[in-house]
Amino acid sequence: MANPIKNFESFAQRLLDGAVVAFPTETVYGLGVDADHESAVARMYAIKGRPSNHPVIIHISSKKLVSYWAREIPNYAIQLMDKFWPGPMTLLLKRTDKAKDFITGGQDVVGLRVPSNKIAKNLLQEFESLGGHGVAAPSANRFGSVSPTTAKDVEVELGQFLGEEDVMIDGGPCEVGVESTIIDCTGKLPRILRLGAVTEAMINETSPIDKDDNLSEIRVSGSLSRHYSPRAKVFHNRGPSKGEGLIALSKIQTPDGVNRLSAPDSVEEYARTLYSSLRSADTQGLRVVVAVMPEGDGLAAAIRDRILRASAE
Ligand code: TXA
Ligand code: MG
Repeated sequence: MANPIKNFESFAQRLLDGAVVAFPTETVYGLGVDADHESAVARMYAIKGRPSNHPVIIHISSKKLVSYWAREIPNYAIQLMDKFWPGPMTLLLKRTDKAKDFITGGQDVVGLRVPSNKIAKNLLQEFESLGGHGVAAPSANRFGSVSPTTAKDVEVELGQFLGEEDVMIDGGPCEVGVESTIIDCTGKLPRILRLGAVTEAMINETSPIDKDDNLSEIRVSGSLSRHYSPRAKVFHNRGPSKGEGLIALSKIQTPDGVNRLSAPDSVEEYARTLYSSLRSADTQGLRVVVAVMPEGDGLAAAIRDRILRASAE
């Protein structure tokens, strides 16, 4: 059961004591632990069922803690922070010795994000005022499955693995609905490794972007070809048949006998509802879902990316 949102100090103290706190962000729900606490991080990995060599994003309440975790920060990264934090953007930066292998998956880079969601912000501020330096949090789903955008989704995915000492904060549905944009800031120019609501055009206003696909050696698990997948088989390149599910913008009609899972009016609404629609296919026991990809740049490109991964073999 979700905990009432009132006592951020006690939630922060539990984090310092090594407990797991599931909390909302503007993108998706996170499964948070103290990023300095090795055994808490190990438990979070076990709950998620994630291989231990996959790195995890550290959430902080402001730019102030960047220098604890990261070094040699390029100017363009500072500009990105100033422009898009708090918000749905994660920066990969060279790590300090404080960012241990159990956080970075042994790589020399650390992922940092300042979320804008109010509950996340309160939790992080309280945690830092008690002496914490950052909350490591992957999306609060089992490895490879669909990210949760409500507290109920977290409960369904992970409730059985959480103990008495752990906390689940219900902050209602997430505003954005797809995970943060990930930007590699270890080179001369920023490189986008995962698309999100901070779009290429928005980043371009701050700095030119490095688009060479071959340069990055950084591993990002959200870029595995199959990821964000429900149990139902997802198709994006054919129409739906009778008895199958359909996710598409509202301007697209529902053929007879097809189970319409969502009909968003805008790309923003599409992003916000995509994961809950995929989940509802599973709760309804559908075997097949067709997701019609939205056209255009920006958030539409992030949605297409997630649909492609959800439908990968
Ligand atoms: O919106 C989000 O980013 C959400 C919320 C909870 O903040 N978090 C999220 O975390 O999506 P996760 O772990 O499900 O996906 C983060 C991705 C992973 O693919 C991971 O490999 C990559 O970020 N990542 C994190 N730290 C990294 C690092 N140090 N080096 C390379 N990749 C990293
Ligand atoms: Mg994830």
